[in-house]
Amino acid sequence: VTGPDLAGRHVVISAGGTREPLDPVRFLGNRSSGKQGYALARTAVARGARVTLIEANTGLPDPAGADVLRVGTAVQLREAVIEAAADADVVVMAAAVADFRPSDYAPGKIKKKDGQDAPVVSLVRNPDILAEVAAERSRPGQIVVGFAAETDDVLVNGREKLRRKGCDLLVVNEVGERKTFGSEENEAVVLAADGQETPVPYGPKEALADTVWDLVSGRFQPNSSS
Ligand code: PMT
Repeated sequence: VTGPDLAGRHVVISAGGTREPLDPVRFLGNRSSGKQGYALARTAVARGARVTLIEANTGLPDPAGADVLRVGTAVQLREAVIEAAADADVVVMAAAVADFRPSDYAPGKIKKKDGQDAPVVSLVRNPDILAEVAAERSRPGQIVVGFAAETDDVLVNGREKLRRKGCDLLVVNEVGERKTFGSEENEAVVLAADGQETPVPYGPKEALADTVWDLVSGRFQPNSSS
């Protein structure tokens, strides 16, 4: 920890993975454990921030000193993030958000019936929360940080995603066996809209989180503290 450089700042962090229900017992989900988002929350508290952590389906205990909101789906996450972002100095989207949800919810458990074909699940687009927050900038000088988990052409895809989403920083982490989803460790390159690229070597998710806060606090405008 480098010091209380986030004192007086309100940071909003999303963590975990959204679940999009198909019926009362099934959902479309992803492998996010929430560990990276929680590491961001713990380190932000340690650096003096007021932290709102919005978590989706992590099952992790609340980090001391953070206000924790719980959501399930992408639509619920959007509502919570937009509301919390209204007075935030920083918004960090570390959650893995489903890009699509089933177009229909079956109120009763979907049954398999002899002689019938497998059911077809049709999907509709979910809102892009990060792009919306970045376009909105509900507070002057607000800093918006996204994450991207990529499997191939990691940096090329990351640079394209940074432009498309319109955020200030994009943390690009490659999906791998002992990093990114589910593990205690991560490795990343933090891309900035001004072209700066900061590699973060393999290590605890807290170390990556601290690098993100270093880059964020270096971008605060003077006198924009709440
Ligand atoms: O939770 P862990 O197990 O610790 O794993 C951490 C992590 C891998 C989940 C995290 O480090 C990470 O990379 N999170 C983003 C995952 C991802 O693949 O995001 P994406 O490429 O689908 O989306 C890019 C960005 O847009 C993300 O900031 C995402 O939160 C945001 N997004 C995406 C879709 C959508 N509909 N709305 C969004 O806001």
